Amino acid sequence: MKRILFIVLAAMMLLPVGAQNAQKTKKTMVVYFSATGTTKAAAQRLAREHKATLWEIEPAEKYTAADLDWRNKKSRSSVEMNDPEARPTIKQCTNIMPYDTIYVGFPIWWGICPRIINSWIDNNLPQLEGKVLIPFATSGSSGIEGAEAYLKKTYPTLKWKKGKLMNKQ
Ligand SMILES: Cc1cc2nc3c(=O)[nH]c(=O)nc-3n(C[C@H](O)[C@H](O)[C@H](O)COP(=O)(O)O)c2cc1C
Repeated sequence: MKRILFIVLAAMMLLPVGAQNAQKTKKTMVVYFSATGTTKAAAQRLAREHKATLWEIEPAEKYTAADLDWRNKKSRSSVEMNDPEARPTIKQCTNIMPYDTIYVGFPIWWGICPRIINSWIDNNLPQLEGKVLIPFATSGSSGIEGAEAYLKKTYPTLKWKKGKLMNKQ
């Protein structure tokens, strides 16, 4: 009888420790693309706040000022944003395996996310399935709603949570 009581008590004491460990193993990553540094600063703040790993999505070919000219229909960003299938090449792969929650950050381009975000998501499917994905963005004035709706529609099987617009410091 004493032995059974001891086993039950030991199990009760160990349970919360197990639960705590499960909590501790949950890891967060902040992944972002930034053409001119604004989203980078927001990503750094977010990573500090959540004690998260920070990862920059770098294009194989950097965007020049001319590439970013949205008034020019022939600029690289305009050509990419006009083509829903455009997938600019990314410099390096990301190891997303250890992370349960991933913040995905970008500047708003044409009301949505730049196509390089599609490249990153496409490169990391299907490992992204089941992870919590939280978009965040900076913009001139647009909200993040358009980007959120676009991401949900384009990747309906992924677990998207409400996004954050991080224009304020
Ligand atoms: C090609 C391009 C398109 C943009 N489109 C929008 C837009 O639709 N709405 C908006 O509010 N800002 C727009 N912006 C402004 C950026 O979202 C804003 O400057 C952002 O903070 C830049 O972030 P970054 O420095 O991380 O690249 C655009 C900028 C570029 C270069």
